[in-house]
Amino acid sequence: MGIVQPDNIQALQKKADAYARVKAVIPPMEWAVFEDDILAIQKLKHQRNAIILAHNYQTPEIFHGVADIAGDSLALAREAATAQADVIVMAGVHFMAETAKLLNPKSKVLIPDVKAGCSLAESITADDVRLLRQKYPGVPIITYVNTSAAVKAESDICCTSGNAKKIVESFGVSEVIMLPDEYLAQNVAKETHVKIIAWKGHCEVHERFTAADIELYRQQNPGVIVLAHPECPPDVVAVSDFAGSTAHMIDWVEQNKPKRVVLVTECSMSDNVAANNPDVEFVRPCQLCPHMKRITLKNIRHALETMTTEVFVHDDIAARARVAVERMIAVR
Ligand code: 13P
Ligand code: SF4
Repeated sequence: MGIVQPDNIQALQKKADAYARVKAVIPPMEWAVFEDDILAIQKLKHQRNAIILAHNYQTPEIFHGVADIAGDSLALAREAATAQADVIVMAGVHFMAETAKLLNPKSKVLIPDVKAGCSLAESITADDVRLLRQKYPGVPIITYVNTSAAVKAESDICCTSGNAKKIVESFGVSEVIMLPDEYLAQNVAKETHVKIIAWKGHCEVHERFTAADIELYRQQNPGVIVLAHPECPPDVVAVSDFAGSTAHMIDWVEQNKPKRVVLVTECSMSDNVAANNPDVEFVRPCQLCPHMKRITLKNIRHALETMTTEVFVHDDIAARARVAVERMIAVR
């Protein structure tokens, strides 16, 4: 056996720690398939001075196996802004990588699959936003982070599902435009006196849930607590026990330790949260986001080996989009 190099020892230790976290949700035989890539990624991160930011919807072998930071869209944006790494790999979708680039222009930002898009980001263009500004002069335009940088550049401020109400109220006005998620806008409108003009974009994952589904989960799983993401239709949120961003849902589980819970959102999140909460029973209806699922250990490894695909935002768009995202980050 050859001499074991220090970065090898570190990588092996990280791999062992990761398995200790996920053994409740990944059987040993399945983990064996991931081990080689996890070890290689840990070493590559060290060599490249790279970090991996992973959204809560990534699969457990990414979330627990290689991510340096895992979180909701807001947390990933905040982490990207202060990251000291030369390279940021976004284990998430394209708008998240663009947001990281806006906030940290000096770092190389890589996305393992450029086709990892988002139905919300696809639902609106910069031209649409310019037309809305003409139609509603003087009305602030709040753009969900699930949009392209070009759309952000036409907006006054961004928001995420974790801070949407606070951002809506931060203007101190009676009416705002909130784009592009109609359901998020309607759900926030129920919690504020501010009138919200919405767009008709929807998340293709959350729009699939219905109030009848929630009723069925309750019938089939007595006592289950229902936590819903605010990208769900308002009638789904209305019959849930709590609604919040992915990070808020995780916090709720950790603080309240329900006996039985269903997370009405993308289904990898239940695996990730279950790994940290062995005493909580998770009811798991499975709705996968096809865009998030484009990211795999294999293409993360490939991204770090080849330093592709780098995400760029045109200077003019970046300067204006950055203002909208930084304004959001400044609202506490
Ligand atoms: P959050 O993690 O910010 O709640 O967003 C959910 C989502 O759908 C991201 O694509
Ligand atoms: Fe977009 Fe919905 Fe997928 Fe999130 S879960 S990336 S909002 S399509």
